[in-house]
Amino acid sequence: MRRFPFPFMAETHGGTVGIGGTTVLPQPKSAIANVPFVTHGAADPAELEAWGLDPEEVVDFSVNDNPYGPSPAVTRALASVPAHRYPDREARALRRALSARLGVGPERIVAGNGASELLWLVALGYIRSRDTVMIVGPTFGEYERVARLMGARVQFWRARAETGFAVDPDGVAAVLDTVRPAVVFLCTPNNPTGTLVPTDVIARWARAHPACLFVVDESYFEFAAYRLAGLRSAIELDLDNILVIRSLTKLYGLAGLRLGYAVAPPQVVAVLHRVAPPWHVNAVAQAAGVAALTDEAHVGRSLARVWDACDKFRRGLETLGLAPLPSATHFFLLDVGDGAAWRRRLLRYGLVVRDCASFGLPQYIRLATRREEENERLLATLARERRRAT
Ligand SMILES: Cc1ncc(COP(=O)(O)O)c(C=O)c1O
Repeated sequence: MRRFPFPFMAETHGGTVGIGGTTVLPQPKSAIANVPFVTHGAADPAELEAWGLDPEEVVDFSVNDNPYGPSPAVTRALASVPAHRYPDREARALRRALSARLGVGPERIVAGNGASELLWLVALGYIRSRDTVMIVGPTFGEYERVARLMGARVQFWRARAETGFAVDPDGVAAVLDTVRPAVVFLCTPNNPTGTLVPTDVIARWARAHPACLFVVDESYFEFAAYRLAGLRSAIELDLDNILVIRSLTKLYGLAGLRLGYAVAPPQVVAVLHRVAPPWHVNAVAQAAGVAALTDEAHVGRSLARVWDACDKFRRGLETLGLAPLPSATHFFLLDVGDGAAWRRRLLRYGLVVRDCASFGLPQYIRLATRREEENERLLATLARERRRAT
């Protein structure tokens, strides 16, 4: 009898009786056993139900999106999408809209069913079993998941709290030189630390390792760029081995629809198109994306309000004697001693925060800025609970 990496398969799948009377059941790829379970932010409906919480009453500080939601133009666009027609497999209208906004040709852009799907497409196209994949951490868990799914070895370089989670260019370069990865994943501004990796540093690494594909996740780029005049995107580098991923679910408020894009050299874009499932970006998401990109005023207003609320939120936390970590974006880490305990404590009041244990940072929670009145609700609850705890 073979061992089953997943016991539920042995219990629930009917098997066929093979020669000699042994039962042969379907076997998953061996790499599956190494695929980690990834924790994400965003309130989990099942958990809210278990706590008897009404999702409408919950304020979710664990999701790093635009608290003001999508543009009204998105809602209007949704109504006019013909549901019976197949979507454009190449998402041309959306790619043209992105091209106009980014100033790069549509042949350098590929759309995805969220930024997450683009990570899968990179893995399918570029990660071979037993390749080494390098991840600059602590960071978003899906990079490791897609690498392990392909049977790759994963090598982390981890930033440390003692140095403010700054990425050390020479430290990363030393690991690159040693392990010679096929693919590198890095995130800037990084989730969960909010740190940036300068574009010239990325360029230096990429030039030194031309055979390695550098996947630069800029899902939160616009949040940071609003505050940091002159912040450069890795898109500008236009190197043959750099692929930049951006999400349209965060700032543009399309998490439920799922939409993202990647900017890469045309030959890399062609590979991602080649491995993508057919019609992977649905028609509603494509139309919503085009509408969202046309309403720059909504985005500008949202960013101004979010940053204003973020400044007040951080000051409020400092007044309570807490020390939010510096961050280039609208979410940040907060050392509370025991992130899981504080998450549970706040959840009782319908306030969801991100416990950072899955990032290897159990003493922290990650807080995303919400609307001002919501941030005040969290501040008041934290003040009360901290008084109670002492
Ligand atoms: C760094 C990073 N990349 C990608 C994603 C996934 O984004 P999407 O909703 O577009 O799939 C997230 C979501 O949490 C993220 O934090």
